[in-house]
This record gives sequence, structure tokens and C-alpha cells, in this order.
Amino acid sequence: MQHEQPASLPQPDELSAKHCARVSDHIRARIDAAGGQISFAQFMQEALYAPGLGYYTAGATKFGVDGDFITAPEISSVFGRVLARQSAEVLGEIEGGEILEFGAGSGKLAVDMLTALEELGALPDSYQILEVSADLQERQKQRMQAQIPQLADRVQWISDLPRDFEGVIIANEVLDALPVERFVRRGSGVSQLCVSLEAERFVWTERAAPELLESAVIAIEAEIGRTLENGYTSEVSLAAPRWIDALANSLRRGAVFLFDYGVSQREYYATDRTEGWLRCHFRHHAHNNALIYAGIQDLTAWVDFSSIAGAAVSNGFDLLGYQTQSQFLMGGGLEIEMQGFTELPLPRQLELSGQIKTLTLPGEMGENFKCIALGRGAMDTPSTFHLADRTQVL
Ligand SMILES: C[S@@+](CC[C@H](N)C(=O)[O-])C[C@H]1O[C@@H](n2cnc3c(N)ncnc32)[C@H](O)[C@@H]1O
Repeated sequence: MQHEQPASLPQPDELSAKHCARVSDHIRARIDAAGGQISFAQFMQEALYAPGLGYYTAGATKFGVDGDFITAPEISSVFGRVLARQSAEVLGEIEGGEILEFGAGSGKLAVDMLTALEELGALPDSYQILEVSADLQERQKQRMQAQIPQLADRVQWISDLPRDFEGVIIANEVLDALPVERFVRRGSGVSQLCVSLEAERFVWTERAAPELLESAVIAIEAEIGRTLENGYTSEVSLAAPRWIDALANSLRRGAVFLFDYGVSQREYYATDRTEGWLRCHFRHHAHNNALIYAGIQDLTAWVDFSSIAGAAVSNGFDLLGYQTQSQFLMGGGLEIEMQGFTELPLPRQLELSGQIKTLTLPGEMGENFKCIALGRGAMDTPSTFHLADRTQVL
């Protein structure tokens, strides 16, 4: 199952190639220590998060034009400004509270949110960031000091989820960065896809799935009402339900807004989706070979939003809504953000309309990206879901 490197993929520069060699050595040592094979979830964990080495934990550029991919907050401040409006509703309802952002990346969303919340007169008591990457934490701190020095002392970096949190929890493109298991249906059994070594190269291998993975696959089949076909290969996130469980234990009152590319479970495990949803990003090239460029390319998997909703409800969350990113922006206050558009200088109008197209058009990020909102403590439905809500497809 080793995929060849697509011809169009750029070669890493010398520095990146050296870093990749270090990360690969580290993973090879893990494979040797484990007796010759590790699960793909372990491989993804090491490639992305090995301390000081992984894609997110070491110093790669990652975001923006000089990096490997671009996220909604990086495309336009409009994303953070609309999210700020929806968050302000929640903070207003609980008469105070805080914001907690998971995986804040370059810190751009935090800057946009705080700027907009200040303008709305709805600043949270604090803006907390839970970021696993020390490198990114450092970049976020520098950005706050440079761009919003007057608000920087409201931002706190935390290493564990707080207890009895009241307010808004947000995470953009964090779910897709959690390590996933890959599996193959083999007749009446389930195999776990693993990574081994062949002449120092990483190669795919498989073994009988551990019980947790096998029962997750069987539960999916029960939900979709179909046994997956022989050879059907896909992913399942065992980490995501645990993460939702941790959020439920932390949040006493308020709402959670999660954004990511993803689909419902029926679409995720559709008959024609026989190779799964794993994607790799290197220098703005998306491809499927997860076993190359260890530590220098992003590894992601689309999100099964039905499983997120299921984990949330069984942990005591209310499902407040599910919609596309486009619907979130349209229903959440984009129109208000656009007031005064015609008075802007023409180059700025062109720039802004280009950004909004990227965020909202179906062929861009508008349809593939979704927002799911979860509530705790009998919260009102955020107003964006008054325009559209697709919860019934989950
Ligand atoms: C694809 S990036 C998205 C960054 C940013 N939210 C954005 O939209 O630009 C994924 C982020 O999630 C962080 N991350 C991954 N797993 C995490 C976890 N368990 N807790 C907190 N942050 C995590 C990564 O370090 C990184 O900042």
C-alpha cells in the first residue's frame, strides 16, 4: 500500500530534509522498540507531536503562503470577527465568562477575536489558550505583544483544561490534527494499519485490530446499517471522543464552537470512499502519502461529525447546531461586518471580496468546512443557526 511520491510534489530544502531525517530516525527507533511495527495513530502522533521534533512541536513555518496550508483565520479577519459576534452572545447570556481556544496556531484568530470583542464591548475576563506546541505558544505570545499590546495581559496560556469553566470554547482545525487510526475490513475481521520498516523506508503493514478499534468499526457499521466491504479502508478517531469527554468535564456553562473539514458518518463511510480521508499538506500541495516527509508535512484526517455529535450528547452536551462554514458566516454576522464596504478603497474591496469568496464558496472552503456547536447549561441556540441548521444529517 506504499504510495509513491506524486511527481508534482516539491522537494524539501536542505534544512527541511535534515529535519525530516532526524524525525525519521526518531520514528524508526520507536518502531524498533515496539518490535517492528507501530499503529498509524502512533506514527501520526510522533510525526506531528514528538517533543521538539514533530511537525507542530518544532519550528516549521506551517501556516500561510510560506508554509504548507492556510486556515480560515489566516485567510481573513472576517472569520474571527463573526465568531466573536457569536461568542459575545454566549458571554452575554451567562453575564461574563471566559474564552478558551484550543490549538491557536499563529495566534491570528485570538487577535481578531479580542479586537472585535473589544469593539463590541464584550471582552471576556480572560482569553485562555491551550496549545500543545511550545514553538507555536512562543509565536502566539509575540503576536499578542506586537498586535494587541493593550489586551495582551488578558491572554493566558494553560497546559490543562480548567475545571468549572464558564464561557466559550473554540477550536479551528484542531479535530483534524488529532491522530487517527487507519483500518481495513478483512472479511469478518478488522485489521489495523501499521507502519513498519523496509530497508529504512516506512511501509504500510497490518495486524489484527485491537479490541477498541474493532469495536469502534463494528459500532460504525451498526450506525450506518451496512457491513463495510472486504478491503474497505478508512480512518476512525479514537482520540476525538476522549477529547469531547474532557471538554464536557471542564465546561460548566457555555458553548463550544468547533470548525473543521468533515462530513456526516454516512458520507464518511460511503461505499465509494474506499481509501479514507487522510490528507497530507506540503508547501500547499495536498496528497495522500502519509509516510514520506515525516515531521515536515502536515497530516490530517477529515472529521466524522456524527461521531463528534454522538460523543457530545452522551457526555451531557446539548447539540446547538451544525452547519457549513458558509452558513456560519452568513448567519453569524457577515452582513454587519460588511457595512461600510463600499466606502473602502477599491484595492481593499477587491482584497476583502476575494477573502470572503474563499471562505464561503462551495468549491473553496464554504461547504467542506463545517461548524458544530455544543452547549452546556441550557444555553440558547446561537443566532447563526437561525439561518440554517443541518443537525438532522448527523
Ligand atoms: C491545523 S492547526 C490549526 C491552527 C489554528 N487553529 C488555525 O486555525 O490556524 C492545528 C493546531 O492544533 C494544535 N493541537 C493539536 N492537538 C492539540 C491538542 N490536543 N490540544 C491543543 N492543541 C492541539 C496544534 O499544535 C496546532 O496549533
